[in-house]
Amino acid sequence: MEYFTFRQFTINRIMHYYSLGKIPPKRHTQFRKDNGELYSEELFSTEGFSNNYSTLYHVNPPTRIKQVGEPYSVAPKVVLDKQLKHRSLQGFQVPPEDDYLKSRKAVLTNNDCTILVSAPRKSMKDYFFKNADADEMIFVHKGTGTFKSFYGELKFSYGDYIVVPRGTTYQMEFDDEDNRLFIVESYSPIVTPKRYRNQFGQLLEHSPFCERDIRKPENLRTHDEQGDFQFYIKKQHQMYPYQYLDHPFDVVGWDGYVYPYIFSIHDFEPITGRIHQPPPVHQTFAARGFVVCSFVPRLFDYHPQAIPAPYNHSNIDSDEVLYYVDGDFMSRKHVEKGMMTLHPAGIPHGPHPGTVEKSIGAKETHELAVMVDTFYPLQLTQTALDIEDKDYYKSWLE
Ligand SMILES: [Fe+2]
Repeated sequence: MEYFTFRQFTINRIMHYYSLGKIPPKRHTQFRKDNGELYSEELFSTEGFSNNYSTLYHVNPPTRIKQVGEPYSVAPKVVLDKQLKHRSLQGFQVPPEDDYLKSRKAVLTNNDCTILVSAPRKSMKDYFFKNADADEMIFVHKGTGTFKSFYGELKFSYGDYIVVPRGTTYQMEFDDEDNRLFIVESYSPIVTPKRYRNQFGQLLEHSPFCERDIRKPENLRTHDEQGDFQFYIKKQHQMYPYQYLDHPFDVVGWDGYVYPYIFSIHDFEPITGRIHQPPPVHQTFAARGFVVCSFVPRLFDYHPQAIPAPYNHSNIDSDEVLYYVDGDFMSRKHVEKGMMTLHPAGIPHGPHPGTVEKSIGAKETHELAVMVDTFYPLQLTQTALDIEDKDYYKSWLE
């Protein structure tokens, strides 16, 4: 499979200018420490110099490499590159691992994204991670902690989407060992849906969330430390061990439009109607080749003859992945937390037997789920087959 970095994606991630710490009044001018030395300015740009960027001021140059180790492959191990079967995977069956990077298990992949599940037990204490291949969307299903980067800190908890621009050096700190993450690596920028933004990027009135729902980094701590700082840098699905002289979180200030942020699924305001609303009303993020939707607790359709359960659906252009987080799922039986269904393009899928009648008259749903719809077929890894409910495709017979 060919992987590549997408350079022509001209809409921006999020479009809020933000600044933290101290910065000079004018960019690219002398900005000095108390001892008279210059700070090291770093432009963190996207699409060359043609799209959003941030400007960071480091105490030390971000370039002082001490060692580069032997790279190793972290490419998803695809065992089924073509397939046409409804699948159900038990995400919580993936065993926990102490280490964060080892805990990230790819289950589904294509040229646009890789979907991973992860149950890390320990905080990242001894190294920093940078994904140079992909933006990351880390959905927190279980656990609390702090996402640390040179932009500052983001406290996370259940229901948070942590959105990380590619190239961000970070550490995950967990408050305890019981953590479950649903991760999408996107080989293009993860953005908010264009139809919800005006020409200047402000979220419009009909958007199911607005700027106030976006949590930005805070508590910028500056580590002016020298030593052996271990990095793992992922590039073209190889992991490169790097050792730098300087602590990466040595920024005294930054400003710009590129930074990690959090949006909580609990802040998504559902759009409802008199009759069944199609999945795009749940859309939360967009990227090249896929979208992410949030299914949240909401009132059901209020037409007197309405059928709240979804209709059968012939998706001929997208593989649909639904990750079940919490609550009741009115259209499915045998749903467990952390379960993931894959309904591939090419064959219809629909509600399970009995669930349509049962949905009539229901006033509300408490379901909570994340959907990833890809426009090109997904391939399965060995991990996916290991946690698969093999008879799921027959479940509409019951
Ligand atoms: Fe569907």
